[in-house]
Amino acid sequence: MLQRKFRVALLEFGLLSLSLSLSHCHPTPNQLLFDAVCIYLNQLVSSSESLSLISHLPLQPPSKSLSFFFFCFSRILLSISPQLCVREVQEEEMSKAGALDLASGLGGKIDKTDVLSAVEKYEKYHVCYGGEEEARKSNYTDMVNKYYDLVTSFYEYGWGESFHFAPRWNGESLRESIKRHEHFLALQLGLKPGQKVLDVGCGIGGPLREISRFSSTSITGLNNNEYQITRGKELNRIVGVDKTCNFVKADFMKLPFPENSFDAVYAIEATCHAPDAYGCYKEIYRVLKSGQCFAAYEWCMTDAFDPNNQEHQKIKAEIEIGDGLPDIRLTGKCLEALKQAGFEVIWEKDLAVDSPLPWYLPLDKSRISLSSFRLTAAGRFVTRNLVKVLEYIGLAPAGSQRVQDFLEKAAVGLVEGGKKEIFTPMYFFLARKPLTEESQ
Ligand SMILES: C[S@@+](CC[C@H](N)C(=O)[O-])C[C@H]1O[C@@H](n2cnc3c(N)ncnc32)[C@H](O)[C@@H]1O
Repeated sequence: MLQRKFRVALLEFGLLSLSLSLSHCHPTPNQLLFDAVCIYLNQLVSSSESLSLISHLPLQPPSKSLSFFFFCFSRILLSISPQLCVREVQEEEMSKAGALDLASGLGGKIDKTDVLSAVEKYEKYHVCYGGEEEARKSNYTDMVNKYYDLVTSFYEYGWGESFHFAPRWNGESLRESIKRHEHFLALQLGLKPGQKVLDVGCGIGGPLREISRFSSTSITGLNNNEYQITRGKELNRIVGVDKTCNFVKADFMKLPFPENSFDAVYAIEATCHAPDAYGCYKEIYRVLKSGQCFAAYEWCMTDAFDPNNQEHQKIKAEIEIGDGLPDIRLTGKCLEALKQAGFEVIWEKDLAVDSPLPWYLPLDKSRISLSSFRLTAAGRFVTRNLVKVLEYIGLAPAGSQRVQDFLEKAAVGLVEGGKKEIFTPMYFFLARKPLTEESQ
């Protein structure tokens, strides 16, 4: 009820402010006023069009500034609570991306009162806090699960339902590039309607929902994080893929499926969490049918990475702590592990190399974007202070700011790693499990 009141108030506020601004137009055709108000309000969320509309309106300087002011004010309100925005009901139902949702999801399976101690334990695994690679590898389940319990709400708040990067073209939105990157994987795997597919390390299922609808396949999402699976099931139900797709909670180092179970397997920015690439790929090889393919986007250090360079090491450590990684492997190590597991590598490439726009652009603080406002310097400033206030008044658990801090560290490391070309989140490979005599 309160939300509804808020929404109506915002609508009226937007309407009034724009009408006021437009009343200074000359000439002011009613139709233009009506169209402008509709577009302005309906585009409030994906709003580059609104902005360009405002800039093209025949307004005199004071009215134009007024319109810009109200536009920015509305965006800040929307960043506080997405329930205020004018979107289709289903999208609204799917979105769990307001600051209050962020606070309520933070901690995942961890009790809210234990968030701070979980953050402290998590930090201690990492180099910046004196942690050792071996401890991260031997305790990978605890380390990675703590990480995702703490950050999933932030990911969903800032990035959306798919937790990965993408190469990007000029004129393409972040969301469009993410979907295209998922479609690319489906096309590379040659997915056919009715096939049984495995998504290894599926997050909350953004790619799974997109790929299953794109290719009419049945996808099993495998994930070791209970909170993400609960969230994924809810989202699958909303879009209606819950009849054909499911989630399994398990470790990708010990897949709970018989041999030759799947027609295709993919992993998007997930197997980088494995303590050992060979162990993980060997399991994938086992559950994949002979003659079928495995494709992945891996997080890797590139050949430009110099282990003796302190700055490179610092960037690597920032990415590790900020992203819950035991150790970031070189591209060559992944390739070696694939072959060792028995795969035939069809082709492999670091897709970052040909991306017209850099993949790290959304995290780059120097850039301004209205469509992904929350990722910009201003948006991050707003989020940081919101989290601070929510933590101070007890709505967000103690420790929330610390989570925001290590995510900031990750963003800095990722942007630096990307700029120096020593790190990529999109080392792509397509590999095939050879046909055996029995299967021919
Ligand atoms: C960066 S997220 C990517 C999620 C998803 N692929 C996407 O693009 O939206 C990495 C995912 O790997 C999962 N993961 C990490 N270690 C795992 C393990 N040992 N077994 C299963 N899942 C794991 C995490 O829980 C998380 O969902």
